Amino acid sequence: MERGRVLLSVTGFHPQRWHDLLSAEREVVTEPDGPADPSIHYAVVWKQRPNVLSSLPNLRVIFSIGAGVDHIFADPTVPDVPIVKIVADNLSQHMAEYVVWRVLDHHRQGMLYRAQQPKKTWHEPPQRSAQDISVGIMGLGTLGRACASALLPLGFTVNGWSRTDRPLPGVSTFAGEAGLIPFLNATDILVVLLPLTSATQGIVNYGLLKQLRRRNGLGGAVLINAGRGRLQKDADILRALDDGTLKEASLDVFEVEPLPKTSPLWSHPKVFVTPHAAATSDPSHLAPIMLRQMAAFERGEPLQNLVNREAGY
Ligand code: GLV
Repeated sequence: MERGRVLLSVTGFHPQRWHDLLSAEREVVTEPDGPADPSIHYAVVWKQRPNVLSSLPNLRVIFSIGAGVDHIFADPTVPDVPIVKIVADNLSQHMAEYVVWRVLDHHRQGMLYRAQQPKKTWHEPPQRSAQDISVGIMGLGTLGRACASALLPLGFTVNGWSRTDRPLPGVSTFAGEAGLIPFLNATDILVVLLPLTSATQGIVNYGLLKQLRRRNGLGGAVLINAGRGRLQKDADILRALDDGTLKEASLDVFEVEPLPKTSPLWSHPKVFVTPHAAATSDPSHLAPIMLRQMAAFERGEPLQNLVNREAGY
């Protein structure tokens, strides 16, 4: 097969580094150049502008810069070619680090101690052990599974929920609508790593948070969202924090990003905010993976980590 060129179509950040790395092996065209160029066979995209991909006459494969692909489907004109999502050890490692960090910080009362320090308060609240705490992971894809594997050796009970059952050693798994309430009822710390699809949008709402386990002594459940902001209702999280349904939350993603300066989440004493930084795509790891896939595709080998269009992830 003829060696295709690559269109880089990115909004929200400067793609220079991607351009340099992909240029090691391929001719790379950066949007707005490119559309209608018949020698472009691949598009490497992050939040591409609408209609760009549909204007490429010989597009063969779309590569997502990012584990989530909702940013691609935001454009309803995306042509029906295979879409490859990023799966990389380095991305899974970063996500597992973030989730372990936030779980441990909530578990070991980091929020409380940080509030006490400026007041020079010497107070030690009761501390449960990890064995008494169950962490429930919503979404058992590559990232969710990496987080489960990192949490288990620390002693936490780990539950997992996914659309279809995905058994995992050491993890109690629940699936589909029927499994959701039992999963939530057995979860103290909820970690959200779902893909954003029409079925999951707004799923982290007040009704769902209300189902989390709130046992005596823990002071409420904890929410950690490192998936996508539009999975959650920011206002419902605030309501749950303010009425004690939730004890604390760590949020890496928000309905609107960057999180508007007017959002009460910024200064809420029970919220830990990070700027969509849990697991950022690192071009020096990811560009070579994409280049390898392009070369394999041209040798007639199957593409890896394809998106299921019907499921939306
Ligand atoms: C980042 O949010 C990603 O999808 O990898």
